[in-house]
Amino acid sequence: MSKLQNAIVGGVRTAMGYVPSSWLPGGTRDPLIDKRVTLGTQQSRVDGPDKVQGVARFAAEVRMDGLVYAACVHSTIARGKITELDLAAAEAAPGVVLVMTHRNAPKLALPPPIGMTNLKAAGNNILLIMQDAEIRWNGQTVALVLAETQEQANYAASLIVVRYEQAAARTRFEDAKADATTPDSLMIERNRLKRGDTDAAFRNAVGSVDAVYRTPWHNHNPIEPNAATITWQGDRLIVHDATQMLNGTAGSLAKVFGIKDTQVFVSSPFVGGAFGGKALWDHQILGAAASKLAGRPVRIALSRTSMHRLIGGRSQTEQRVALAADATGKLKALLHQGFSVKPPHSVCDEAFTLSGRSLYESESYDIVQHTLDLDLLANTFMRAPGEAVGTFAIESAMDELAHDLGIDPIALRLRNIGDTDPVSGAPHSQSDLTLAYELGAKKFGWDRRAATPKSHQDGEWLIGMGCATGSFPYVRMPGMSARITIDSNGHATVSSAAHEMGMGTATVQRQHAADRLGLPLDHVTVRIGDTDLPFGSFAGGSSQTASLGAAINAASVKLAGDLLRLAGNDTPLAGLRANEIEFANHGLRKIGEPSRYESFASILERASRSEISAMGESGAPLEILKFSMHSRSAIFCELRVSEVTGEVRLTRLVGAFDCGRILNPKTATSQFRGGMIMGLGMALTEETLLDKRNGRIMSASMTDYHVPVHLDVPEIDVLWTDIPDPRTPMGARGIGEIGIAGVAAAIANAVFNATGKRVRDLPLTPDKLLGD
Ligand code: MOS
Repeated sequence: MSKLQNAIVGGVRTAMGYVPSSWLPGGTRDPLIDKRVTLGTQQSRVDGPDKVQGVARFAAEVRMDGLVYAACVHSTIARGKITELDLAAAEAAPGVVLVMTHRNAPKLALPPPIGMTNLKAAGNNILLIMQDAEIRWNGQTVALVLAETQEQANYAASLIVVRYEQAAARTRFEDAKADATTPDSLMIERNRLKRGDTDAAFRNAVGSVDAVYRTPWHNHNPIEPNAATITWQGDRLIVHDATQMLNGTAGSLAKVFGIKDTQVFVSSPFVGGAFGGKALWDHQILGAAASKLAGRPVRIALSRTSMHRLIGGRSQTEQRVALAADATGKLKALLHQGFSVKPPHSVCDEAFTLSGRSLYESESYDIVQHTLDLDLLANTFMRAPGEAVGTFAIESAMDELAHDLGIDPIALRLRNIGDTDPVSGAPHSQSDLTLAYELGAKKFGWDRRAATPKSHQDGEWLIGMGCATGSFPYVRMPGMSARITIDSNGHATVSSAAHEMGMGTATVQRQHAADRLGLPLDHVTVRIGDTDLPFGSFAGGSSQTASLGAAINAASVKLAGDLLRLAGNDTPLAGLRANEIEFANHGLRKIGEPSRYESFASILERASRSEISAMGESGAPLEILKFSMHSRSAIFCELRVSEVTGEVRLTRLVGAFDCGRILNPKTATSQFRGGMIMGLGMALTEETLLDKRNGRIMSASMTDYHVPVHLDVPEIDVLWTDIPDPRTPMGARGIGEIGIAGVAAAIANAVFNATGKRVRDLPLTPDKLLGD
């Protein structure tokens, strides 16, 4: 985003202040909020049986005749040129079909970058691929082997010898700080926020904290590795992908290969977790290029090692937070500053400074973050980008301030959350963090926490409790479309190129469509997951439920009008206008006069029609400029720290969420719990280890990159306020990313409560807790 865009967003926001709410999306309360039918009830996943029976096909399981398998050879230097490629042994190895390098790769254009305005772009690593001898990061693919089996491809790849001319590479975070740049904006917010006299606030403060917090690189490790099965049918490209951006991937591949969007078909009915790591990376492009070269279908299923080399992760951050408060804990100054990495070929700012300023009122602010350029693979979005690491810093600092002032950490937070957005002054669409803290504290038993650290001990184990706030903005994407078709049996089919990455998309939208159309659940089918369906934006930013919800709602409005016209004059509905009717009981009826009713089946039969379809699209999300819209959480943790080994074992986690209305308690609980477990990993074990001399990831496997296992996961309680957000479709806000936010801080705060030791560097490994 540029200065110009900043000015536009600022201008629109100001204008929005004068626009009546009723003119905006969310201006009229969604009637479904007050109609309790299937939304809000527990429903099992519609795709559950297929998944447990192994019927659901994932990208690396699609069968094709003549399929060949790909293996990658990765560069071992960060910067320089390939001087020699010895492929002879590989080419002669059993089963090898071809070896692709920059010498024989087809001509490929730059992938278009993911951005806020181009929904046909999904590129993350914006570099030419295999077009020259240039090396840009340690791990870049220098050769791709195709063979008849995966094992043959892997073996042949091991025989390739590459020699390089090395150039100096910038791979050290510390060294790059001197050349840091400062972006004008982060998402749609201005980066720099300076307000009031922070120096005076610190001079007059009764309590204060000024500390630096560090978070390491994190890598994506979903249960399903990134993979694609790809073939060309003439000049049509068919890609079975694991993606959270179907149309973005299709549009990007079209650009890279110089063909039309309509010549690319992408299918991704099931994704085994994505979290920001499943858009377009080099492997889909390499696979399609190699398939073109070989004239055979290609499967490129990345090994865990290749995933670490080719799929970017969450940038390392260094964050300074300084807080000044009066004796009552009211914030007088809030500073949040620091550094993260974003090479020019990356699309993702790790926007860690957005959390604090949307949460806490302060008399003065000084907030800004800086960007480092390093010779690394592009960093990217990873569950709750910005907020996951930003809340670690700000919520650790709030705990430090509470300790300094001798105020209860919950009381300190509630004293500083405002009635409106602290920075823009916009009203909250709905916000009740106070209730979330009340519910969570009661469930958790916060009153049993000792304010003095190191008060509870059980043998070698020091026991502590901590809490923290999580936050994630509400996002609704434009450009998401949906079609509703009703057939002569009164059965509705909802179609959209939307994504199922484990969260229950079809399940929840089936509930939505059933309630919206006045049908029972078994009269609704939801079809998602490929680009033959109506255009979809993406599943990211926890936005998909709202975006698709808005599209289905728009389609239902169109459908009602079309049905009314089709019904004509020979119907109890004759003479009614669209705003006088509603869906109910398998048909349409007059609002307030249920006897004036006709069923879908009857309308279609009289018109001799076998079906009727209507399309709808989610419009521009102007409501997010008028209202302050955020999901929030109160996270509680109880843990034990061994005085002997420094090991941290969690005993309990409680998450109380304020995310609008919960649409399906079963799938929602699973999302929240999964997010909290990811937060637990971030707190205790997850860390990408880079060799700082050469930018090589040394932890490129699941043996070395430690995600939580069952034994690490304690009893987790998930609660919610369930207060509908009157400005959103169905009253719901996003719940996908909020689960991870705040968890690392709650854990670090509990470690302090247990031990008296404040660890400001994640992860909280035993070495940081031993000694004095
Ligand atoms: Mo999310 S990091 O937008 O998948």
